[in-house]
Amino acid sequence: MNILIISGTPRKKGRTRKVAYTLSSRLPAEVIDLSDLTLPLFNGEGEQDRVSEVQWLRELSNEADAFIWLSPEYHNGMSGALKNALDFLNIDHFRHKPTLLMSVSGGGKGGINSINQMRLVGRGLHAMVVPDQLIFDPDSFKEDGAFTADIESRVTQVLREFTHYAGLLPTLGVRG
Ligand SMILES: Cc1cc2nc3c(=O)[nH]c(=O)nc-3n(C[C@H](O)[C@H](O)[C@H](O)COP(=O)(O)O)c2cc1C
Repeated sequence: MNILIISGTPRKKGRTRKVAYTLSSRLPAEVIDLSDLTLPLFNGEGEQDRVSEVQWLRELSNEADAFIWLSPEYHNGMSGALKNALDFLNIDHFRHKPTLLMSVSGGGKGGINSINQMRLVGRGLHAMVVPDQLIFDPDSFKEDGAFTADIESRVTQVLREFTHYAGLLPTLGVRG
């Protein structure tokens, strides 16, 4: 299974980015790191189709069987960087593809707003957004940045759920 993780933080030192790479080291997954990929601001003009970063994003999304969207919570929402990247894509990139939502927040009750926004955007893109979801907050990390035991067990649970959906689709004749 070809999983594509889209890391939605525009910050090179963002925690979201660290979570993305930690997950990718455990999965057969590739990361699109939006702190690294210099995408233009989507303007709908055909000339953007020739931008190599846009082509790469579309190519990897075409090839992916499933996605993890990972957004920081910024001002009670998903990051502009992630929404901008998704605006370059369309339903053909996401149809019949399980998509897992995760958010990294600053704490308190943060994270749920960006997840809910992503769920709505996922519907717009016809992604098969899986019911389970996960929020990381500062308490989810040890001093060295590693996941705490509590969040580790949630990560395992959520990934199991996600790969269950991804594995189910070929048997239903939906993909593959
Ligand atoms: C512009 C900006 C807005 C933010 N707004 C929120 C917020 O509304 N709620 C929250 O829980 N955390 C908020 N945070 C904290 C981030 O969620 C936190 O830094 C987290 O680690 C994810 O962002 P990062 O991957 O860029 O580090 C905000 C951070 C920035 C830079």
